[in-house]
Amino acid sequence: MFNREEPSRLLPNFRFMRVLILSAAVGILLVACQRDDISTGKDTYALNRPDYFPEIAYPVATNPITRAGFELGKKLFNDPRLSLDNSIACSNCHVKAVAFTDPQHNPSVGIFEQSGSRNAPMIANMAFQSEFLWNGGVSHLDFVPVFAIENEKEMGETLADVIRKLNRTDDYPPLFKKAFPKIDTITSPYMLKALSQYMLLLVSDNSKYDQSVRGELQLTAEEAAGLDIFNRKCANCHSGALFTNHDFLNNGLDSVFEDEGRALISETDDDLGKFKVPSLRNVTLTAPYMHDGRFKTLQQVLDHYRSGVKDAPTLAPELKKDGQLGIALTDDEVEKLILFLETLTDYDFVSNPVF
Ligand code: HEC
Ligand code: HEC
Repeated sequence: MFNREEPSRLLPNFRFMRVLILSAAVGILLVACQRDDISTGKDTYALNRPDYFPEIAYPVATNPITRAGFELGKKLFNDPRLSLDNSIACSNCHVKAVAFTDPQHNPSVGIFEQSGSRNAPMIANMAFQSEFLWNGGVSHLDFVPVFAIENEKEMGETLADVIRKLNRTDDYPPLFKKAFPKIDTITSPYMLKALSQYMLLLVSDNSKYDQSVRGELQLTAEEAAGLDIFNRKCANCHSGALFTNHDFLNNGLDSVFEDEGRALISETDDDLGKFKVPSLRNVTLTAPYMHDGRFKTLQQVLDHYRSGVKDAPTLAPELKKDGQLGIALTDDEVEKLILFLETLTDYDFVSNPVF
């Protein structure tokens, strides 16, 4: 948790932490213990896991987070020079004020005003996830930016060109040297490590809901009623502290799939129209909703669940119980659910100047 009074002294309060690291990319499994040294911890930015969050999935031991690395990652994230025509930064599509999603475009628009087909997901709590993109196509956070940089409709660049550009600047070489003293020229793995250091610290854990979990306040009776409805009707899929079971499912948006979703990477019809169950943290800020941004409001999302669910062989069984499509919800339940979902907004996260 961050120090709310003094955000610039971010994160040095660190407890003993046992981190189970599963690195899908390198294929190694290692257990590491990390400890923050508060007295000398000025240069170390610690990744704090609230105790009710899932384990840290990123192999932090392979990319220890430092203040210089974090700051470098933040600068890269906001730098349009990472795109072909120097016009689009990561932050154009991942806007901090709305939990690093894209409020304007549906779907997200990249260089030369080209539109992709998917809606930019929230970047928060990435440290606790191990499959990225709507279809889970990337299993290591370091490799996600490659996808954005090299996507011709997003940033349209090549990694090699970006590295060449960065090496020719006046500002980047000393910043890389400071963050990674071992290296003499900028190389792509270190650029990707810096971006990850920044994204890893984007932990969102101070919503009203979190405060209630920690016993700092109580939800109102209506919010608590909403939570109860949520637990009964939504938490099968949107489960746990991140409000996702990390599965890929078809929640009934279509019967015919313009975007085949997870089937595009698994190449099996069993995965047609299946997409990542998204976290619902900050959901009031992250419209439009769904992989293609088809819904503008939570009301529309809930109307989908109660009366818009379409049948298909891959439809999640929870959405077709006893032959009935969708989830039964009264107007009153919808109202309370929305009140509960509003408690998941973390205003400190989106206004933290450190991010
Ligand atoms: C043109 C808009 C655009 C730009 C620019 C962009 N992104 Fe994204 N980002 C997206 C979209 C759309 C997705 C989802 C793509 C998919 O699932 O197929 C995404 C997905 C992601 C994810 C995965 C999140 C998750 O929960 O799975 C991360 C991390 C990410 N982007 C980081 C970055 C970084 C870092 C940069 C800059 C190097 C960047 N993005 C640039 C639109 C953009
Ligand atoms: C069977 C599993 C399942 C159940 C049950 C379920 N969802 Fe979802 N939900 C999903 C999946 C999968 C997606 C993403 C679908 C896509 O984009 O194609 C999603 C997307 C969403 C989104 C959009 C989030 C975003 O960032 O775009 C919201 C909001 C949401 N669900 C709320 C709810 C609520 C509220 C309930 C209970 C009434 C519920 N869901 C029940 C699986 C489920």
